[in-house]
Amino acid sequence: MKINTAKFVISNTDVKKCPQEKLPEYAFIGRSNVGKSSLINMLTNHGSLAKISNKPGKTQLINHFIINNNWFLVDLPGYGYAKVSKKQRSKFQDIIFDYFNKRLHLVNTFVLIDVRHEPQKIDLEFMQFLGENGIPFSIIFTKADKLAKTKVVKNVKNYTNEMLKIWETMPKYFISSSVDKTGKKEILDYISEINQTLIK
Ligand code: GTP
Ligand code: MG
Repeated sequence: MKINTAKFVISNTDVKKCPQEKLPEYAFIGRSNVGKSSLINMLTNHGSLAKISNKPGKTQLINHFIINNNWFLVDLPGYGYAKVSKKQRSKFQDIIFDYFNKRLHLVNTFVLIDVRHEPQKIDLEFMQFLGENGIPFSIIFTKADKLAKTKVVKNVKNYTNEMLKIWETMPKYFISSSVDKTGKKEILDYISEINQTLIK
């Protein structure tokens, strides 16, 4: 898929205020610092798309972007921030849960995982939540350029083994780097393929 246009639409904390157009929606989520903004900018050929919504001083959680005027890309907040209070964290969670429960045109969620790290409980639990709620998801392993290729393969294999303790099969996954654009074509083609199947 070629990205011709990528525009910021709205940023808010209230799911009711999200765009109402019946367009397929793809959400991106992961822990803070996993490389979400970089990935979104890499996918959309945009230097700073994902940062446009970062209005300082405001808790902006759900960020909608419209791509090629025919699908929404959604930048969701990182879950499991270590630095916020318990109360604040549970507010984040409520909003995220509300988002997943109410966005009827959500087609797929991309869960970002830093390929350098051992499987983390919080990511595994989050994917379990998606599974239990019947929300389709794929994994994007980020920052692949930071490791030797053999180490990437080894870590992905390790992650797969961990997932298979919970899941019958490994979900679809991608390996990416925002630095050398690894995975860009595969991820965009995957979205494009799904979009094709949705055209009536
Ligand atoms: P928050 O919005 O703060 O939660 O972070 P984020 O998940 O949006 O991550 P962001 O894209 O801001 O990247 C975090 C840091 O990782 C930055 O210093 C990026 O330059 C770096 N980074 C992100 N993706 C890559 C990548 O693919 N390769 C390398 N080498 N660095 C990356
Ligand atoms: Mg970010």
